[in-house]
Amino acid sequence: MLPLLYQKVLKPVLFRFDPERVHDGFVSMGEGVGRWRAGRALLSGMYGYRGPDASVTVDGLRYRTPIVLAAGFDYNGRLLQVLPNIGFGGVEVGSVTALPTPGNDPPRMRRLVRSRSIVVNKGLKNEGVDVVTERLASEATPDDFVVGVSIARSNRAEAVGEEAGIEDYARSLEQLVRAGVGDYYTVNISCPNVHGGESFADPAHLAPLLERLSRVEHDRPVYAKMPINPDWDEFRRIVDVVEAHGLQGLVIGNLNKDYATLDHPGEAPGEYRGGLSGAPCRERSTELVARTREAWGDRFTLMACGGILSADDAMDKFRAGADLVQLISGMIFTGPHLMSDIAGAWAREFGGR
Ligand SMILES: Cc1cc2nc3c(=O)[nH]c(=O)nc-3n(C[C@H](O)[C@H](O)[C@H](O)COP(=O)(O)O)c2cc1C
Repeated sequence: MLPLLYQKVLKPVLFRFDPERVHDGFVSMGEGVGRWRAGRALLSGMYGYRGPDASVTVDGLRYRTPIVLAAGFDYNGRLLQVLPNIGFGGVEVGSVTALPTPGNDPPRMRRLVRSRSIVVNKGLKNEGVDVVTERLASEATPDDFVVGVSIARSNRAEAVGEEAGIEDYARSLEQLVRAGVGDYYTVNISCPNVHGGESFADPAHLAPLLERLSRVEHDRPVYAKMPINPDWDEFRRIVDVVEAHGLQGLVIGNLNKDYATLDHPGEAPGEYRGGLSGAPCRERSTELVARTREAWGDRFTLMACGGILSADDAMDKFRAGADLVQLISGMIFTGPHLMSDIAGAWAREFGGR
């Protein structure tokens, strides 16, 4: 009933409006609803997971379900009261940057409905690490809900250049650690649409960044958010650097830059380019998860992300070796019942181990 309601009624209405406005509206509404016990109970009644135990412990962190809201939806950390009630076991807040970042000039998002993808040209719009840290520090969350924080280089002229960029990331991490905020941290090295390019996905630049971040003392797991467009040799070289610096895991991965993977390339806007979410990410991210698990065994925690539009898509990623999955586009294109569907499918195949 709820899936039908979303597909036939809510989605057609929402998809008539500008995606960024819908997104902002949902975040504001979600934040408001989350403040009220009755609002949380209503959401939980509609979209909460109530099947067999789907909880999992990864790097010492307990997730009520193995599904995390990927970075880029709750970039300012405003949905912590809502997400545990709609089937998520965790959220990756951010990406946050040391300096508040207004983002790229609009339009910053476009839905490609037939290709089940979103063109993302946000440019890391967020309120900055100080504001987000303060907000997260004031929020209580359930013990089995994990709050990760993704950090990125400020998309501003002040952070252009390798040294400035490294210090910019370090300032965010130091601020979060000082406040004791964040159960894990993800270093976003692969944002495709920012000032100063994607240079930290280049092993030569990544090594000094991770070396500097490793000097910030804390006891939380750190993951790297990987690009999915490099070929396998290049991908391996990035993973080698991540391994050498002792990070615990990888999020595989970020948006797809390859427009040839769109089912309907004609849908893409001609006036601007951005990374592609959703269906175009699915196969490549699953393949990289499988190859990474095969090549590195249990060395890394793997969070698989990209193109999970059904419970079957998520199960392909778990079977490929993912410990956890992350998603955004599936919640939008398929509906908010997707998380419970995935949790149920996971519990049936992997639960109770
Ligand atoms: C609107 C939007 C904004 C995003 N912003 C970020 C971000 O700030 N940091 C990041 O690491 N990934 C960001 N992403 C990428 C997602 O985390 C994810 O890697 C990608 O969307 C693929 O997952 P999906 O197919 O489930 O959407 C963003 C994605 C979307 C749709």
